[in-house]
Amino acid sequence: MAVSRLPFPLTLTGDGIILREWRSEDLDDLVRMLDEPEIARWSPMPSPFDVEAGIAYLKRCYQNRVTGQRIQLAITTDGGRPVGEVLLFGVDLGLREAELGYLVDVHERRRGLASGALSVLSRYAQDSLHLGRLLLRIDPRNASSTAVARRCGYRLTGEAPILQEGPHGSSRLDTWELVEGQSDGRRDRQKNVAARRYGRRT
Ligand SMILES: CC(C)(COP(=O)(O)OP(=O)(O)OC[C@H]1O[C@@H](n2cnc3c(N)ncnc32)[C@H](O)[C@@H]1OP(=O)(O)O)[C@@H](O)C(=O)NCCC(=O)NCCS
Repeated sequence: MAVSRLPFPLTLTGDGIILREWRSEDLDDLVRMLDEPEIARWSPMPSPFDVEAGIAYLKRCYQNRVTGQRIQLAITTDGGRPVGEVLLFGVDLGLREAELGYLVDVHERRRGLASGALSVLSRYAQDSLHLGRLLLRIDPRNASSTAVARRCGYRLTGEAPILQEGPHGSSRLDTWELVEGQSDGRRDRQKNVAARRYGRRT
């Protein structure tokens, strides 16, 4: 049965990645990372993202973590400096589904970090939280995010796009899904993200 309260604290490892809880000492790294045009364009972050926004963000994150509402973890390679974030939210226990999201520091992109982090959290959501259907909402113009979804075995559903207005333009979010009992091929692709991750550094 799916859990009713998401576990806290949590550390998840795999694919050369360590996902850990955010800490107050991460404030400077968080502000530097989130105050970035692509993140402002494709995610619902305040922009500009300043220290005040960072403090509010970490506070809300902590509240959501202790109350078991969300999983919101810093992406790291060694448990230290954060290089991104991956989230699980909007858990529907009746439908056994939840939505996931991710972002990576502009200086750390195209190293497989988002794919690795999404794979690790998706596996945890399926195997430990027993969520049967995982969802991503992505604007088709966001090429890097759709590539991450595909690489982790998610597939595009035929659901109607969700229209969203943001400070930097409108978005039409497609729904992607990863369903329990997926084909072995897809599971293998998810597991093999790490191997490909080390094959490319640009
Ligand atoms: C989307 C995002 C998280 C991807 O992070 P990342 O760590 O660079 O992703 P990965 O390295 O795992 O990339 C996986 C694949 O995406 C593709 N990709 C990455 N960046 C790309 C780009 N700019 N254009 C086209 N494809 C891209 C590549 O195919 C890559 O695999 P490859 O390098 O082996 O070919 C990052 O670009 C980001 O933070 N964007 C802003 C926030 C955002 O859009 N979040 C998602 C909202 S839905």
